[in-house]
Amino acid sequence: MKTGSLTIVGTGIQLAGHLTLAAKAWIEQADKVLFALADPVTAKWLKGLNATAEALPYNKHNQRRRDTYREMTERILLEVRQGLNVCAVFYGHPGVFADPAHAAIQQAHCEGFRAQMLPGISAEDCLFADLGVDPGKNGCQSFEATDFLIRRRKFDPTSALILWQIAMIGNLGFYEPGSHRKGLKILAEVLEKDYDADHEVVVYEAAVYYPVCSPVINRIPLSKLPEAKVTEVSTLYIPPTAMSPIEHEMMASLGIDNW
Ligand SMILES: C[S@@+](CC[C@H](N)C(=O)[O-])C[C@H]1O[C@@H](n2cnc3c(N)ncnc32)[C@H](O)[C@@H]1O
Repeated sequence: MKTGSLTIVGTGIQLAGHLTLAAKAWIEQADKVLFALADPVTAKWLKGLNATAEALPYNKHNQRRRDTYREMTERILLEVRQGLNVCAVFYGHPGVFADPAHAAIQQAHCEGFRAQMLPGISAEDCLFADLGVDPGKNGCQSFEATDFLIRRRKFDPTSALILWQIAMIGNLGFYEPGSHRKGLKILAEVLEKDYDADHEVVVYEAAVYYPVCSPVINRIPLSKLPEAKVTEVSTLYIPPTAMSPIEHEMMASLGIDNW
């Protein structure tokens, strides 16, 4: 195994409070820390844990985010190739909607370096807690919003549905406030094929600066989604329509007489 290694960790969503003890230890011990974080306060706090901490390049001149992510991956690998033990820090869970994190691990392995990812607390984990949703109850489907639309993802309305990046529908570049109205309108039209227009949906934002701020939990009828206040960090939660019916033949095959 070559010298040089990569450990990818997540900060969680909430400033400082969501960082696991393991992630903190890897950050403190790293020769080099690189980070991609959503807020400047967490970035400053990270520099207090390890003075080498430096922001990953986030080049908004590219037409596509995908190219910027490639540059971030390359920047991480540059440090690993120098024989350093690198810790790359992403917000939330570092493996949830984080292409450069997965790409960097894959590339490091290909080049013969030790590489691992540690789990973190994602926005979805916060949603389960703040909205009182247990994915074990009706199941839970989770999609990136543009992917959901362009692949016409098959889903079950009797199960919970979570759509990520609703402010970026159809946008392969970078977030621009107010640019999401068209995407939300199309999303609402597609959802209205499976849900009533007055079905309650939730535009959700977990609190980053808890306990100073509370989460945003905006409950609206589906028909009002196109006008809803949505930001770069909004996630859409769509509760199940009704309990899925039970197939009694299957219960009998499994030897269950009461559910
Ligand atoms: C690039 S993904 C990053 C996800 C992050 N790695 C995680 O584990 O949650 C960005 C999307 O995550 C969701 N997200 C990020 N921060 C959030 C927050 N504070 N509350 C709710 N959703 C959030 C939104 O759907 C946003 O568009």
